[in-house]
Parts: sequence; C-alpha cells; structure tokens
Amino acid sequence: MTTPAGMTERFEAFDPDRLVEIIAAHADMDGPLLPILHGVQAAFGYVPQAAIPIIAGALNLTRAEVHGVVSFYHDFREAPAGAHTLRLCRAEACQAAGGDALAAHAEQALGVPFGQTTADGGVTLEAVYCLGLCASGPAALVDGKPVARLDAGRLDRVIASLAS
Ligand code: FES
Repeated sequence: MTTPAGMTERFEAFDPDRLVEIIAAHADMDGPLLPILHGVQAAFGYVPQAAIPIIAGALNLTRAEVHGVVSFYHDFREAPAGAHTLRLCRAEACQAAGGDALAAHAEQALGVPFGQTTADGGVTLEAVYCLGLCASGPAALVDGKPVARLDAGRLDRVIASLAS
C-alpha cells in the first residue's frame, strides 16, 4: 500500500468477507500463513484477533499456532496503529551508533514502550531490524519515510513534527 510522503497509511475496516478473499488468494501457496498474515496487515493495518480463528480454521492450524506466528514476527501488529508510526531500527549497526540510548529516549519522549501507541492515538513506536541504512544510523522510518543519522535532538524534532 503506497501513500504520499508524510501521509498516514489508510486501511480498510476489518471485514470477515474480505479476510476470506485474502485467505483464498494465498491458500494454494506452499506455506500460506505468512503471506496471508502480510495480506491481512496490508488490508487492515494489523492482524485483528477476530481474524485468527478464521485463518486457523482455513489452514487447519490451531489458534495458538497462528497467534504464535503473529506475536513472533515484529512486522505484525496486533492492534491498529496510531495516526503516525515511528519505526526505530534496533539492529546491530544502529545499536553500535547509539541506538540503545536513542531507543530509551524515544520511549521516554513518547511515554510508551516499543509496540505501543501514545494515549492520544498520535504515534505508534515500533522496532525494525535493519533498514539498509547501517552506514548512517541510527535510522528510522517515520510514516514509512527513511530518516538517518538520528540523535536525541533530531528525534525530538521528528516527534514534535508528528504532533503538529
Ligand atoms: S542496522 Fe539499522 S539500518 Fe541497518
């Protein structure tokens, strides 16, 4: 799903009939679970709890198996994102460039841990693991747009821009 730079991604409201279409589009693949989950997230912006038993039934898996995959992969959200997403790289090269301190600063500045959305629904803070910007880390995706060479001051300006 492409969005203009700086715009928030827009998603469909969860619809079980749409979910069945997504499942059907991938059901003949080898290992269809991950492609289905990616399709669900692309459509709805997250993997709704209500989708899990439907996916499990279609693939002859248990709910726990499907939920285990959703919770294992950082790419999948279990709740809708806020109006903006800040995805900070937590992989090795960015950590070596000060990423750990920056991650702590992001949590403090937003008042939420990774994987959560601010109380006003404004910003979801998420971890990503390498954006291909290792030489200019710490790096992040802000509403899908790459931002490199972050430090606390620059991150504060990014966060302030999301609030305006
Ligand atoms: S480790 Fe952060 S962009 Fe590669």
